Amino acid sequence: MDEKQVAKFFNSVSDAAKTILEAAKEGGYIHVFSHLDADGVAAAGIIGKALYRLDAGFRIRITQWVDEKLVAEILQEKPQMVIFTDLGSNHANLLRQKARDIKVIVLDHHQLGGELSSDFPCVNPHLFGIDGARDVSSAGVAYFVAKAINEVNIDLAPIAVVGALGDLQDKYDQRMLGGLNEKIVEDAKSQGLLTVEKDLIFFGRETRPIHKTLASTTNPFIPGISGEEDKSLAFLASIDIKPKYGDKWRALRDLSEEEKRRLCSALAEYLLSKGLHYEISNLIGHVYTLSKEEPWTPLRDGREFAVLLNAAGRMDKPSVGVAVCMGDRGASLEEASRILDEYRRTINRYLSWIIEKPERIREMENIYVVYGEDFIDEKIVGAISSILTTSLPNPEKPLIAYADVKEEGLVKVSARTIDTVAYKGVNLGEVMQVAAEKCLGKGGGHNVAAGAQVPIENVKTFLQLVNELVGKQLAGEKIGS
Ligand code: C5P
Repeated sequence: MDEKQVAKFFNSVSDAAKTILEAAKEGGYIHVFSHLDADGVAAAGIIGKALYRLDAGFRIRITQWVDEKLVAEILQEKPQMVIFTDLGSNHANLLRQKARDIKVIVLDHHQLGGELSSDFPCVNPHLFGIDGARDVSSAGVAYFVAKAINEVNIDLAPIAVVGALGDLQDKYDQRMLGGLNEKIVEDAKSQGLLTVEKDLIFFGRETRPIHKTLASTTNPFIPGISGEEDKSLAFLASIDIKPKYGDKWRALRDLSEEEKRRLCSALAEYLLSKGLHYEISNLIGHVYTLSKEEPWTPLRDGREFAVLLNAAGRMDKPSVGVAVCMGDRGASLEEASRILDEYRRTINRYLSWIIEKPERIREMENIYVVYGEDFIDEKIVGAISSILTTSLPNPEKPLIAYADVKEEGLVKVSARTIDTVAYKGVNLGEVMQVAAEKCLGKGGGHNVAAGAQVPIENVKTFLQLVNELVGKQLAGEKIGS
């Protein structure tokens, strides 16, 4: 990162913090709108806590997107200030043009679809040549602003780490957070709130029985073990690792260092025997532990915490996630755990439905397409797309999953691919934007994860366009303006 640009980024952070402080002093009502994924919920929790500590009047609303309807609602309510976190970059101008007396702030990390007016604070890494897909998330941007408002908000650093992990920003060597995220990690560590270590990276290290953790891993993908709980149990038995203490299943966190080493080398040998030597380097990665959270809860491991927030956002209970981020460890945490179970069951139901009929995964020249009809909830289609993208026969073909949003006459599209494809020139954020706009819809996002809303009647054309545009990018051609 260019230090001069980083300094400019932090100037914009200070501007946003000053504007929020002024609004809070004036005593007006502040409306926070945030996105419903883990990063959006974390960002909302961080700004919410900062506003709470300022004793400001505020309200948080979590939404999947900003559209003209939402702008019209805001105009009717006339709050003194609107803060958009993790969304809104492309609608803030519209709001501003229609109501000069409403103060607007945007704290986001998405690529910008068009010109951004400079007459309101917009903190977005892309404005300063900083990569918003890996170097800082919206929770991170919100965190920097919260800390500029008041240094006490440094205790929110772990929540920003969770937001970044939720947006899969751990893209540095061995699944490490880098760029501006590294500053946040350092803040959290300095307060004794976070430890970072290199360890077996499997998901569920705090809460899940080890064989389930092994069976549910897709990154690394271990053929014969991934997806196969019985075989995972047998594998553990073959290397003399006990899955239970008495009646209680053990989680990865319960293994001794020696047992972990034994498990790791056995897995490495196994992968080698399958010719998957490149997967071995994916066994170990950076693990982010929120050291003040209770062990064996989903809040202790940063990645599990992120999935919990995502579940809350996507299962129509975002306020539970926001409350947990703001520090509630009572009723909200209990409810969040229930929501997480329900979310997992729902995802399994959807995945089974997709694989039940082979034609539900359609292959085009450059993409895969999955149509969830009105069976898959449009808010969960993104999670399905993320899970499936690594397990399709050719993981280098982006996956475009979509489902109906009947009441709006449109479909919600979620596009996902892997980094290797982005290195080859594919930018799904651009593809979604260009294709959706040509089909009277809206699209955008990051290079490896993007989305769109498209009128139902234009879906066929849209998919053909996406297929063509991905092909063009792979051929090194520029698309759009
Ligand atoms: O909704 P989904 O999880 O598929 O979105 C992937 C990414 O694309 C998110 O970061 C989302 O904010 C972004 N997106 C966007 N514009 C849209 C739809 C999604 O920027 N119209």
